[in-house]
Amino acid sequence: MAIQLGDTAPDFTAKSTSGEIQFHDYLGDSWGILFSHPKDFTPVCTTELGRVAALKSEFDRRNVKVVGLSVDPVEDHEKWASDIEETQGTALNFPLVGDPERTVANLYDMIHPNALNTLTVRSVFVIGPDKKVKLTLTYPASTGRNFDEILRVIDSLQLTADHQVATPVDWNDGDDVIVVPALSDEEASKKFPKGFQAIKPYLRITPQPNK
Ligand code: BEZ
Repeated sequence: MAIQLGDTAPDFTAKSTSGEIQFHDYLGDSWGILFSHPKDFTPVCTTELGRVAALKSEFDRRNVKVVGLSVDPVEDHEKWASDIEETQGTALNFPLVGDPERTVANLYDMIHPNALNTLTVRSVFVIGPDKKVKLTLTYPASTGRNFDEILRVIDSLQLTADHQVATPVDWNDGDDVIVVPALSDEEASKKFPKGFQAIKPYLRITPQPNK
């Protein structure tokens, strides 16, 4: 069965461009992103991996460790890395797992045979420090992902974890947020000293607490 939100992210040991990694140990207390791409030496994947490398400081700032994966062997990843640096302007700076036996791909249900035969589709798993899956995304091979959107979701997830707020449609960092229904008005008044506006009893808005 596919991995669902709230499930524990399956642990694995695998070869990567940073040596052998044991996934849970590697993540430690950090947040994590595990994402797959279909194939090395392909155009969309080249742009994606370059973009993820360029965003390293943004992931670091959010305490997120990133791991990439495809069913190509590590030796191919290493050869491809110089093309990524040359064409995208940033060297790979996160581990890229080689999964030719498809062990991790099968564990995470990243192969969708009706879409892409034996290759991994563009899967994304965001994993919390508790090792629970917080977000899953699946994109087809022909569509490069928007990693700014993935950062935006991580900002929202971290706000929820730290401040008991949710984020409304099209929210961006700095915008007002939503007081979760689990908090009473009394609790919300104590928790959010800037106050909140109750547009409806169930729709309460407050300024982003960590700004
Ligand atoms: C690409 O990255 O461009 C790609 C990879 C596999 C299938 C189709 C496109």
